[in-house]
Amino acid sequence: MASIQIIVGSMLGGSEYVAEACQQTLDELNHQTTLHLSPELSDIPYKDQIWLVCTSTHGAGEYPDNIQHFVDQLTDQEIDLSTTKCITIGLGDSSYDTFCYAAKNINKLLISKGCNQIKEPLLHDMQQDIDPEELSSLWISDLKDQLS
Ligand SMILES: Cc1cc2nc3c(=O)[nH]c(=O)nc-3n(C[C@H](O)[C@H](O)[C@H](O)COP(=O)(O)O)c2cc1C
Repeated sequence: MASIQIIVGSMLGGSEYVAEACQQTLDELNHQTTLHLSPELSDIPYKDQIWLVCTSTHGAGEYPDNIQHFVDQLTDQEIDLSTTKCITIGLGDSSYDTFCYAAKNINKLLISKGCNQIKEPLLHDMQQDIDPEELSSLWISDLKDQLS
């Protein structure tokens, strides 16, 4: 059983639904999960934890408002994430040149702080007719051996 911190960046709710679907899947796999809808770095355990980041991209490649503060904290603080594992799920739209920049950039930021990426980010293109909740839940289920 792993302890998993789910960190959400969402403006319109889509990434939040994806995060909640992943949380349900992870709970069913008997992991211990906590959802952070207004993430604050000092409130989120990191030692020997898994961080799952679900974020959309807004503006022109920008972070959703609710996760910007967390990203600023992470950027500014010296934090050693070498015992933390991470996985990132992005929601975006491929009609933007800045497709899924927030997910790509936070993933790079986490790695720059020493975080151990479990798998390359899953990037959903919302231009396509997809069900990101279902796809993300299946993707998370497939990672079960790497989560424990
Ligand atoms: C004003 C606006 C700007 C957007 N900018 C981008 C962008 O730069 N890159 C991208 O990949 N998607 C962009 N999108 C698409 C959103 O990321 C996508 O609709 C996503 O599903 C929204 O998720 P959310 O409901 O969690 O905020 C933008 C959407 C809106 C409405």
